Amino acid sequence: MSYQKLKGTLDFYQQEAAKMRFIEEKAKTILNTFGFEEIITPIIEPTDVFVRSSGDSSDIVNKEMYTFNDRGNRSITLRPEGTASVVRSFLENKLYVNSPLTKLYYCGPMFRYERPQAGRYRQFMQFGIEVFGEGSAFLDADVIISAYQLLSALGIKGIQLKINTIGDFISRKDYAAKLQAYFAGKMDDFCEDCQKRLTKNPLRILDCKVDANKDIVQQAPKIKDSLSAASLSHFKKVTDILSMMQIPYQVDETLVRGLDYYTDTVFEFILAVPGELQGLAICAGGKYADLVKNFGGPDIPGIGYAFGMERIMMVMNSQSLFVDTFKKTDVVMICLDEDSKKVGLAFANHLRSENLTVEMDYKNYSLKQQFKLADRVNPRYILIIGEEERTSGIFTIKHTQKNTQEKIKKENIVTYISDKNNENS
Ligand code: HAM
Repeated sequence: MSYQKLKGTLDFYQQEAAKMRFIEEKAKTILNTFGFEEIITPIIEPTDVFVRSSGDSSDIVNKEMYTFNDRGNRSITLRPEGTASVVRSFLENKLYVNSPLTKLYYCGPMFRYERPQAGRYRQFMQFGIEVFGEGSAFLDADVIISAYQLLSALGIKGIQLKINTIGDFISRKDYAAKLQAYFAGKMDDFCEDCQKRLTKNPLRILDCKVDANKDIVQQAPKIKDSLSAASLSHFKKVTDILSMMQIPYQVDETLVRGLDYYTDTVFEFILAVPGELQGLAICAGGKYADLVKNFGGPDIPGIGYAFGMERIMMVMNSQSLFVDTFKKTDVVMICLDEDSKKVGLAFANHLRSENLTVEMDYKNYSLKQQFKLADRVNPRYILIIGEEERTSGIFTIKHTQKNTQEKIKKENIVTYISDKNNENS
């Protein structure tokens, strides 16, 4: 019997795995400059961690969680997102005690039972951040700027930042009531999900993938008319700072986000170029003033976002942004007999200790086959060792790009390769 990966999951191997790590490293480098530190939390959490944070009216909790009872009959969930786990850890470990501001990033797999399609998987990687301890508009803006910097550092083009405010909990309740009154009796041809949302969470009707473009939705009361003066003024400050920093954005009054914990600023970076992936959210997040408190902790606001790493990779592939990202093999050793192989293996490891990438043939392939192998690897140099080279300590080195060959003393080869590298790269 042959096995296949589960629907909605992906294998990453060789270059694709390297691309994933490349994105992760780039993200870490940028976020380190913003003063972030890493947090690693378990992939499994008590189910309640997600139910209490995402909200029992959210799609995630209602139909997307991988939940099971363990052998001790505890309800366990594979994390569908990172924020709730980080908040749980922030509280459990009392991270707020040491510093008034805590800046954390994380990277790892998330699990959602969604209908798989391009860019939507059941297991996917998120790179996310969470900041605790400050409710200022400057922090909101700086968090958004960090995501913008990351996308710029990766060279991604055609991304649009959409931003909105959904106010505080009380304003939102008021707005939800207005929407319920407005939509009542007008929803006969709306999808099944929206019918349920009308009573459970009417804001979600506004960004429903099926119904959002209907005239009735477009003409629905706007959230800004229900917001407190404080929320409106906070949002104006955030957008003013983004303008000052010349970060392009578009205010989207229908952006409400699918998780219940947000308050005030919410945002998404979406792909705006025409094609199959147009409209795909690459990164999304927002502020959550009450989540820590709702978890039973002190009154500490938080804000964060998460990138879908597969989505970044798809966009970078489509924009050919990985070219020249990967290190070429420096040397392939061609060894002409068993004794030369011994010398070759030892020398290969000497070169590796100098941080050079070296490959060799471990079998007893013919010279022709070894050259074929070298062609496939396409190294910068081919080192040839036979009886003559072995006894003289002078190796033959072939420069593959120039197609030239020289004889070099083995103790001078590292310097030779480094010099020539500089010359040709
Ligand atoms: P989210 O919008 O559910 O937010 O997910 C964030 C990002 O993860 C999305 O914009 C998308 O790029 C990626 N993503 C989500 N679902 C999938 C999927 N099924 N397949 C592939 N990629 C996906 C959150 O998860 C929040 N925790 C973000 C946040 C952090 N808010 C505050 N802090």
